Amino acid sequence: MKAYVLKKTGKSHVLKITDVNSSSLYPNDVRVKIRSIGLNYAEIQSRKGLYGWAPKRPYIPGMEAFGIIEEVGSQVNHLKTGTPVIVVGQYGNYAEETVVPATQVLPAFEHFSDSENAAFAVQFMTAWVALFEICRLTPNDRVLIQAAAGGVGTAAVQLASTYGCEVFGTTSRDEKLEIIRSLGAKHAINYSKTNFVDAIQKESRGQGVDVVLEVVGGEVFRKSMELLNPFGRLAVIGFASLNLNKFNPWSWWKTWRAIPRVKIDAMATGSQVIGASHLGYLLKDTERMLKIWDDLATYVVTHNIRPSIGHEFKFEDMAKAHDLMESRRSVGKIVVHI
Ligand SMILES: NC(=O)c1ccc[n+]([C@@H]2O[C@H](COP(=O)([O-])OP(=O)(O)OC[C@H]3O[C@@H](n4cnc5c(N)ncnc54)[C@H](OP(=O)(O)O)[C@@H]3O)[C@@H](O)[C@H]2O)c1
Repeated sequence: MKAYVLKKTGKSHVLKITDVNSSSLYPNDVRVKIRSIGLNYAEIQSRKGLYGWAPKRPYIPGMEAFGIIEEVGSQVNHLKTGTPVIVVGQYGNYAEETVVPATQVLPAFEHFSDSENAAFAVQFMTAWVALFEICRLTPNDRVLIQAAAGGVGTAAVQLASTYGCEVFGTTSRDEKLEIIRSLGAKHAINYSKTNFVDAIQKESRGQGVDVVLEVVGGEVFRKSMELLNPFGRLAVIGFASLNLNKFNPWSWWKTWRAIPRVKIDAMATGSQVIGASHLGYLLKDTERMLKIWDDLATYVVTHNIRPSIGHEFKFEDMAKAHDLMESRRSVGKIVVHI
């Protein structure tokens, strides 16, 4: 079968299609023929060697995909061949097929397209956990979502606005402001042109925000803290601005500076809660993952929410898809079809 095998880190040209042998199927595994792959920013960071949760090279990247079950292991009784499924995992989905433990496949949504099924799991579970489990969202909250036009961002805007919250979303490009508003945010701000703290204080008549979903780090994290109200909650779920160059000591210092840090004494004064989460832990806790999946799936069906797909590529063009995500020009989710 054909797959991208990451042998060395670097720019997108390190992504090359290779012929690899199919994996053996163990009793608790399923073999899935992949149709569509959802791209995640962590895969850009992994390709550059900046992602702590990446496995040891060489490996096949790819955290999520949509496909059809081709074969089930002898101990798997609840799944059968021919069933459409969403696959989640640490790696392995930039390939024509994948073999995973049956606990890593989730039911596909019948009313979603292939692209939507490939685009849903990581971004929506990440946004759901951050907003509802970490930040304990309530419908009265004013919510700030950083990088709101991206994959996780577009999911979070939809979840928070359908819940009744007043949503503020940021982006670095004017052309992405409209999508943030169209998904339900009341306010969309270009944080590369405007001081977003001043803009939000003006638009909220100085009332700040109760919840922040932070994915950028550095200055964006520090300024987000300025806006957080007493009893506010902030979830750090990403560090998109981190760009370490191992040959450039200046970048070491910038990276060190960009990692979010908090002062507990200042938080105590404001009775604030700062949390962080990573989806990787859910793979080890199947019971919790299935509970979150059930709550999330029920919510999105009830509120008629769909993933926002911005761009679609052919399997051969994975490097172009990576370049687009890295450029900050992508909107919503990028999906690659086999
Ligand atoms: N904790 C978890 O389990 C988890 C899971 C999934 C994703 N995440 C995190 O969530 C964030 C979004 O992930 P995603 O996959 O949905 O990607 P994405 O939002 O579709 O793409 C990344 C976006 O980050 C923004 N960004 C801000 N500063 C940047 C910089 N210096 N360089 C590049 N981009 C920058 C850009 O939007 P603007 O230019 O519009 O600001 C860019 O479009 C990432 O930080 C990712 O690591 C965390």
